Amino acid sequence: MCGITAYCGNHSALPFLMQGLSKLEYRGYDSAGVTILQNNKLITVKCKGRLKNLEEKVSHYQFDGSIGIGHTRWATHGIPSNLNSHPHNNSLNTISLVHNGIIENYRELKNELIDKGYTFQSDTDSEVVVQLLDYYYNGQLLEATQKVLKRIEGSYALCIISTLEPDKIIVAKKESPLIIGKSKDAFVVASDIPALLEYTKDVYFLDDFEMAMITKNDISFFTHEGKSIQKELTTVPYDTEAAKKDGYDTFMLKEIHEQPYVIHETLRGRIFNQQIILDELKDISFEQFNKIYFVACGTAYHASLCGAQVLERITQLPVLATVASEFRYNDPIIDDKTLTIFVSQSGETADTLAALKLAKQKQATTIAIANVLGSSISREADYVLYTCAGPEIAVASTKAYTTQLVLLILLAYYVAQRLNKEIDYQAIEQLESIPHYVEQILKDENIFQEYALMLKNLHDAYFIGRSLDYASVLEGALKLKEVSYIHADAYVAGELKHGPIALIENGSVVIAVATQPHIATKTISNIQETIARGAKVILFTTSHEDIKNIDNVYYLPQVSPTLQSILVAIPLQLIAYYTACIKGCDVDKPRNLAKSVTVE
Ligand code: M6R
Repeated sequence: MCGITAYCGNHSALPFLMQGLSKLEYRGYDSAGVTILQNNKLITVKCKGRLKNLEEKVSHYQFDGSIGIGHTRWATHGIPSNLNSHPHNNSLNTISLVHNGIIENYRELKNELIDKGYTFQSDTDSEVVVQLLDYYYNGQLLEATQKVLKRIEGSYALCIISTLEPDKIIVAKKESPLIIGKSKDAFVVASDIPALLEYTKDVYFLDDFEMAMITKNDISFFTHEGKSIQKELTTVPYDTEAAKKDGYDTFMLKEIHEQPYVIHETLRGRIFNQQIILDELKDISFEQFNKIYFVACGTAYHASLCGAQVLERITQLPVLATVASEFRYNDPIIDDKTLTIFVSQSGETADTLAALKLAKQKQATTIAIANVLGSSISREADYVLYTCAGPEIAVASTKAYTTQLVLLILLAYYVAQRLNKEIDYQAIEQLESIPHYVEQILKDENIFQEYALMLKNLHDAYFIGRSLDYASVLEGALKLKEVSYIHADAYVAGELKHGPIALIENGSVVIAVATQPHIATKTISNIQETIARGAKVILFTTSHEDIKNIDNVYYLPQVSPTLQSILVAIPLQLIAYYTACIKGCDVDKPRNLAKSVTVE
């Protein structure tokens, strides 16, 4: 994910910019750059690759300018390249900016500017902003920025400098973080607190639709309409490590709470007028396939199980989800009429990568669903779709899982659209509100903390569900065993009678999910069978029918059954998390596990 730094003060800007970018490295990036305003010129140095490449390039300059902006880019529009890196400048080289976020209407704006005679250097959405600033500049950078903000749609954190007004930085924010620090002799700006902490802990948090004009001695705040506002300086209590966790105790908890945002990011620009836009796949003709495979490991496999069911229902084609380590050795029957979809957060999982290579050898079409840009799986596949979860640091996958679910559901509707199949438009509409529902569920965190108390002393826990809910309970059980070391197994509820019910005794805890209306009552009657044998049950459902004797029922928001897997993931993650915390486990780094399994 992109990072921003900016400096306006009494000393050379470069040291702050570079140290700030290095503090943001953990968020992931594929290129980096800086602009320094020096001797009334903008000097921009940027390049693809790691920060050390940029360090090497800047070492050839004598930088001492005391105003500057810096950026690390994680490509969204346009491949990682020198030209697509930030900062972006207008053609006269009088204005330079860095941008985090996505300008959703950049194509229209770009065409409009091309018609006015503007030329573009990059494929990015961000360059449109600097060219628009050039177009609107009429002696007042602040005013020009306000005019630009009225034209752009999407999300942004922007830092702008100009030789036309060489004493200032203009910053603006909407749906992308931007923080301004006040140190003894400078104002420093960053997209994240860790970049500021070496210089100051006194910060202004810019809110959406706010902007600021910063000089070395002064700062003024405005709304995007230009109304002057006051902001309070806050002292952040963090050290650098805590700041990376945004004040949460662990990365896992931070990542669980990031889900409304990253789901929103994954959806962004992909639904327009109820149509799914996945331009990355526009060259595939889906009519050619007679079979579809999903291949993945661990949590990504659970997301695939859900994606496969949804896609099968929609396409009426056989769709299978397979664990990569099985797929690669079981001589799968695939050929050029098979579509194979490889799901991986890291994009580096050895078994998934080997399975992908095998599918290619057998002439199948391959799509990667990955989170890490430029990862091996994303490079190897014929087509790639990225989840926008940002860096996932905790070993237990949380936000990568829910963004995979979101993207796989989008993919299913996209294929349906391309094949002219019937589409559930209500579900597409509700998909856009999913971040809001996730936020609502997160507010009930204390309830899930209470449920965790029921599990803390157990050796075993049982998860049951049917249909799509089975994929959800598999993931719930995996989360619990990974972080709390409680043995947990997930069963298709209809299979209980065929064996597992023998394990149920007084005090057993059964976590049940029943969100699929066509089968919910069946699961609920399986629950009654466990209660009759002494189990304590925690049920996640939307159904109000036949709920009796169940002490712990959590009602999920009433959205389309297809979307329920995304919602129920949140309580199941939090139950696992709090159980692990109560037991004193190292939740971010569970024993014996690695974040990315790059060996067989
Ligand atoms: O990076 P990947 O998505 O390919 O990783 C797959 C699994 O190793 C991963 O999901 C693992 O199961 C996680 N620890 C789950 O929390």
